[in-house]
Amino acid sequence: RNRKERGKKQRECSNVKISVVKTTTPRVKPDQNNLGFGRFFTDHMFIMDYAEDLGWHDARIIPYGPFPMDPACAVMHYGQAVFEGMKAYRSPEGKILLFRPEQNMARLNRSNQRMSIPQFDEDFALQAITQLVALDRDWIPEAPGTALYLRPFVFATDSVLGVRASSTYRFMVILSPVGPYYQEGLNPVSIWVEPHYIRAVRGGTGYAKAAGNYAGSLLAQKNAQAKGYSQVLWLDGLERKYVEEVGAMNVFFNIGGVLITPDLGDSILPGITRDSVLTLLRSWDIPTEERDLEVAEIFRAHAEGRLVEAFGCGTAAVISPIGRLGWKDQAIEIGGGKIGAISQRLYDTVTGIQTGRLEDPFGWVLELDN
Ligand code: PLP
Ligand code: COI
Repeated sequence: RNRKERGKKQRECSNVKISVVKTTTPRVKPDQNNLGFGRFFTDHMFIMDYAEDLGWHDARIIPYGPFPMDPACAVMHYGQAVFEGMKAYRSPEGKILLFRPEQNMARLNRSNQRMSIPQFDEDFALQAITQLVALDRDWIPEAPGTALYLRPFVFATDSVLGVRASSTYRFMVILSPVGPYYQEGLNPVSIWVEPHYIRAVRGGTGYAKAAGNYAGSLLAQKNAQAKGYSQVLWLDGLERKYVEEVGAMNVFFNIGGVLITPDLGDSILPGITRDSVLTLLRSWDIPTEERDLEVAEIFRAHAEGRLVEAFGCGTAAVISPIGRLGWKDQAIEIGGGKIGAISQRLYDTVTGIQTGRLEDPFGWVLELDN
């Protein structure tokens, strides 16, 4: 967006006051050591609505809870919906920290653009998010490996069955105290190279965090689990030859000391963790490559003893080491089934910066004045 457009959007929105209705029945907080992922929700949520004549309006924070939906509600039929995932942490000094949240807002607007959902004012939405997090600050868990996961999402709300972009939408944010995303935690996971199903294809919606991308991924995930693997490695949609992503994460392979990740096309979700990992690796003078990576090259490198480590990366798990990779009738072990040195260093550094235990040389952390 150019500055003029952005300035206009800000005028429309930034001075809007967010109304707040506090809960009168606060929930019991869950045990911090047994949170799982996305199973518990805080006391409040943020909502704003969109209509063509009003723009985004009626911004409000209200008690968390269900709301009525018309059976014809567009999102339930044609899946016009997008979401984000980000985390809030509490620093050792008790400050509330968000990690690169403006990146999530920008990506949400890019997802909106792809799914024909109207743009929103990113500064205003971030303001709303920080206000919500501050209100529910007591829900930010402090046990190691935990965080408050923030889930902004937007969906179509017209009650019309015609296949067309909705004229009304709802933007919401809910908060969930979470533990590690995978049961394995930082222990390496086993990954199945999916030979048939694809997650995304050139010209499709892969670069958007569109709800339907995830619905379409579940069958392959289920099949991989039946084979004893925990996630799939997605290949490109045209030749099923090049690596794209792993589960709902970006992926890196350390081949002979070079950290290789697929370059971003429109079939890959541009991960904020991926970008942070690349930035850290470059700052450590570790060679990186963003390029096409054939799955055959990975197996060849393994045969030659040059496949050092592999990991997925994303907000939920941060770094998830890959210990075993199955492809057709072969299965290889990576790094002796243990977390690699660079994977561990990345995990420690990213989580150290996110939680305020390490210096933030890249200006990634937003500290809330609470
Ligand atoms: N790839 C997919 C498909 C995802 O859903 C996510 C998570 O949001 C990622 C990659 C990692 O992105 P990020 O690091 O921004 O969480
Ligand atoms: C991630 O953060 O890596 C994710 O993919 C989140 C997931 C819950 C969709």
